[in-house]
Amino acid sequence: MTARIIMKLDVIGREPAGDGTIRLIFKHPWRDTLPEWTPGAHVDVRLPDGKIRQYSLIGDPRRKDVYVVAVKQETDGRGGSRWIHDALTPGTQAHVTAPRNNFPLTAHNGRTVLIAGGIGVTPLLSMARALAERHADFVLHYCSRTEHAPLLDELRAICGEKLHLHTSGGSRFDAAAVLGQQDPSSAQVYCCGPDRLTASVRAATEGWNPDAVHFEIFQPTLDENFKAEPFDVTIASSGQTIRIPADRSALDVLRENGFILPSSCELGVCGSCECGYRDGIVIHRDSVLKLSARQDRMMLCVSRARVSVTVDL
Ligand code: FES
Repeated sequence: MTARIIMKLDVIGREPAGDGTIRLIFKHPWRDTLPEWTPGAHVDVRLPDGKIRQYSLIGDPRRKDVYVVAVKQETDGRGGSRWIHDALTPGTQAHVTAPRNNFPLTAHNGRTVLIAGGIGVTPLLSMARALAERHADFVLHYCSRTEHAPLLDELRAICGEKLHLHTSGGSRFDAAAVLGQQDPSSAQVYCCGPDRLTASVRAATEGWNPDAVHFEIFQPTLDENFKAEPFDVTIASSGQTIRIPADRSALDVLRENGFILPSSCELGVCGSCECGYRDGIVIHRDSVLKLSARQDRMMLCVSRARVSVTVDL
């Protein structure tokens, strides 16, 4: 586990990016370079109440001095985007973490299919730029309610004819039709957008190798009917066993017992609290770990165990 650096960055630019979205540019007050990142990476922006919101980096990773994000004002959201729209203007500062990439592009020789819904296009923008620069075989399907979708001008400039815009009043996105034309043995699919879109992509790729289909989730998808039970955590290095009550997270109780553990979202979406485990049946409740990683990794903020688990601490 590694803690993420948190930096106080200056807002040095802000401009409209379509459909109630702003593009924000952050720079360190005195350093010329910021921690590096790769397409698909996000940063966490801390709100005044201590909560965080994750935003994908949409700039050019070769430009080391700034981070660029796009923030859509969500009228029915949890208030974070409203604060950012109201408060972050040039000359102000925000606490921003070093980037983390839970949604990296996999190197491969086949076609890459990017599928975005609304502001979910942000992680795919930097991927599209990287794929276009290396003249890779890719296509971007972008679903939007209107023709004025966020970041559309930039996407058109990057993708050209590889961009397919699907709007409510125009050509609708049909996941089964689009993905039915791909070769599952060579294509890689990356999807970010609302639940309905990701569900349709999951359904259309059922039977594909799970490592060929990638999702970026920014909202927790926790089952509200889940009934938590207490369980025991054994510390691999010492053999100490710690009881986790039904109403507490392993992350909280381990911290209370002196373990210094990183976290950020505490909702199972950012990947900060990932920990190795062995000897136990884990109930995975996060939205970030890949299936193949769930055999021996867990998110301490939301995941639990049946009866007991031994963690690599
Ligand atoms: S703190 Fe974000 S996944 Fe656990």
